[in-house]
Amino acid sequence: MGERDFDTGQRVPVVGIGPGSDDYLTVGGRRVLRTADVVVGFTTVLDCVDEHVGERLDCSYDDQTERLAEFGERVRDGELGVAVAMGDPNCSGGQFVDRVRAAVGEVRVCPGVSSTQVAAARAGVAYDEAAIESLHKRGDCAAERDRLRAALPERALIVLPLPWQTMPEDIARDLLASHPEAGDRRAVVCESVTLPGETLTRTTLAELADGADGESAFSDLSVLVVQPP
Ligand SMILES: C[S@@+](CC[C@H](N)C(=O)[O-])C[C@H]1O[C@@H](n2cnc3c(N)ncnc32)[C@H](O)[C@@H]1O
Repeated sequence: MGERDFDTGQRVPVVGIGPGSDDYLTVGGRRVLRTADVVVGFTTVLDCVDEHVGERLDCSYDDQTERLAEFGERVRDGELGVAVAMGDPNCSGGQFVDRVRAAVGEVRVCPGVSSTQVAAARAGVAYDEAAIESLHKRGDCAAERDRLRAALPERALIVLPLPWQTMPEDIARDLLASHPEAGDRRAVVCESVTLPGETLTRTTLAELADGADGESAFSDLSVLVVQPP
């Protein structure tokens, strides 16, 4: 018998809440949130599921160590603790999952709908045929950029930018530096998917690369999809 993701048990659930809209929070995720004594997560994530949460333990990038330590203590005291992550914790959410694990011992990752899945759907790209990379991590992401350059001639790309440092315009410039022939490849920048401000910008790699070098036209909640050739 397989593991039942959303049952409360010995291990602390890390629930993927989807890309923001309640429509994309799974039924199981909602149930787990409603049974929790305390739910820990970044404020932006908790705000999306506030109506399902009793007691919140909000973290920011600056105080997450202290807040997760407090969460760990409460779990050890017998409270039912749940952590929440945006989208799917298994897509570019590993650092947060590791921090929760360090605070509480074993965790159980409860999958959610990733922003990359919704962006693929919006752009009409088959998820299984695309190269999916996150640049939303520490370091220079050299390996991720290499894989994107290698995949571009034959496959669609789905990329999580690094807010304010490596934005869709920068990614397009990087791709065209090694594949100048790909300027007319169609691309869609998907912002705030499933949220009230959702915006889809349909463009090409050349147009994107022409965009501002410095201040991006896009928000921190963006996914770049490059359509297949
Ligand atoms: C650390 S990653 C986490 C990704 C998340 N685990 C997921 O599966 O969607 C954060 C990035 O996800 C993307 N993202 C998350 N929610 C989004 C949304 N509603 N619309 C567009 N992009 C989103 C943005 O690129 C954001 O900077």
